[in-house]
Amino acid sequence: MNMHKNEANLWLTHVSKDFFPIWKERIAKFGGTEFKSLGHNFYSVLLDKSFTKENKTETIFSRYWLPVQYMWPTKSTQSGYIEKCAQGVAAKFSDHKFTNVVVFSLDRKDQSLASNLRGRLLQVVKDKITKVTSPKLLTEWTKKPNMQPARNTTLVVAISEKCTWAGITTPQEAGSYFAGGRRYIGVSNEKIASRAAAKFVESLENLQLNDINLSQAKKWLELGAAPGGITHELSERQCEIWAVDKADLDKNLLKKQNVHFYKMDARDFKERIHVDSIFCDLNGPSPLSADICADKSVYLNKNGIIIYTFKIHSVEKFNDDFEYIVNSFKNKACKFLYAYHLYNNKQEITLFFKKQ
Ligand SMILES: C[S@@+](CC[C@H](N)C(=O)[O-])C[C@H]1O[C@@H](n2cnc3c(N)ncnc32)[C@H](O)[C@@H]1O
Repeated sequence: MNMHKNEANLWLTHVSKDFFPIWKERIAKFGGTEFKSLGHNFYSVLLDKSFTKENKTETIFSRYWLPVQYMWPTKSTQSGYIEKCAQGVAAKFSDHKFTNVVVFSLDRKDQSLASNLRGRLLQVVKDKITKVTSPKLLTEWTKKPNMQPARNTTLVVAISEKCTWAGITTPQEAGSYFAGGRRYIGVSNEKIASRAAAKFVESLENLQLNDINLSQAKKWLELGAAPGGITHELSERQCEIWAVDKADLDKNLLKKQNVHFYKMDARDFKERIHVDSIFCDLNGPSPLSADICADKSVYLNKNGIIIYTFKIHSVEKFNDDFEYIVNSFKNKACKFLYAYHLYNNKQEITLFFKKQ
C-alpha cells in the first residue's frame, strides 16, 4: 500500500452541511485552510500547529475530530483491501500505544466493511492490545462505546471508497464516544418525541465526556416539556421533574408521582423549588427563550448545570444571537461552559452553563 505520512496538520471532521458556512468562517479564524469535502458531511482541513483544544471547541459545529497521521489512497472495493489495510495500519502504528481500535466508514452503507476491517485489525494487533485491554472489555466497548473512559487512547481508522485515514485520539479529544460522531440513540418511549429524548441522552454523554457527571442530578426543571420525550427519560431515571409547557404533556406522564406538570407560559412559572439541573427546549425566538431560561436559574443550586437548546432560525444572525444568549445567562451568574452541535441536534445547537 502506498502510504503518505502527514507532515502537515491534517484533520478529518464531521460538520452538518447547513452549518458549514459558519463553521468555515470560525475555523478560518484559527488558520484553517485547504478545506476539502469528503462526502457524507465529512471534511478535511489543514490547521497549523497553534490550533488548540479551546479553538476546537470554539468552532462549535465539528461533531468529530480525527487528527490524520497517515492517509492512503485506497480502493475499498478491491479484493484484498481488508488484509492490506489491516497490515498497513498495524505496521505504521506499531510504535504507538493505544488501548482500543475503532474503524468507521464515511458512507454509512459501508459500515459492515468497517466492522470487518476492525475485526481483522484487532487480530493483527492482538498480542499488543491484549496486554493493555482484555478481550471482554474490547467486546463491551464495541457494544457500548460510551462505556469507554473519556481518555481512552484509540487508534481510529476512517474509510471511504477512495481513501483510508488513520490517527490516534481519545473520545474526549475527538468529541464523541462514537467513531465519526454519529450517535444513534434508542429511546425508551418511541411514542413521545424521540428526537428530543435522544438529544437529552446525548447531552448527558457529552457532559460526561467533558468530565461532568449528572447521574446525581435528581431534581430537574424542564422548560418546554411537551409532549414529554425528555420528561419520560428523566422519570425513568427516578428523577423528580417540574415540567412546564403551554401545550399538553403526554397523559401517561401526568399519572407519575415524580412528574409535576405546569401547563402555562414558562414566564409565569413561580414555585418554591431548588433543582439540580435545568433542561430548556423551548421553541420560539432564541433570545427570548434564553432570557426565560436564564431567569429560571434562580431555582438552580450552586454549580448546577443548565442544558439549553439554541434553535437557530437564521444562520445570518447566528453570531449575534449566540452572543446575546451567552450574555443573558452571564447576567444571571451562569457561566458559559461550551456549545456543541450534537448528532441529534438538527437546526439547533446545545449550550451548557454552570450556575455560579
Ligand atoms: C421542541 S418542543 C419540546 C419537546 C420536549 N422537550 C420533549 O421532550 O418532548 C418545544 C416546546 O416549547 C413550548 N414553548 C415554547 N414557548 C413556550 C413558553 N413561552 N412557555 C411554555 N412553553 C413554551 C412549546 O409549546 C413546545 O411544546
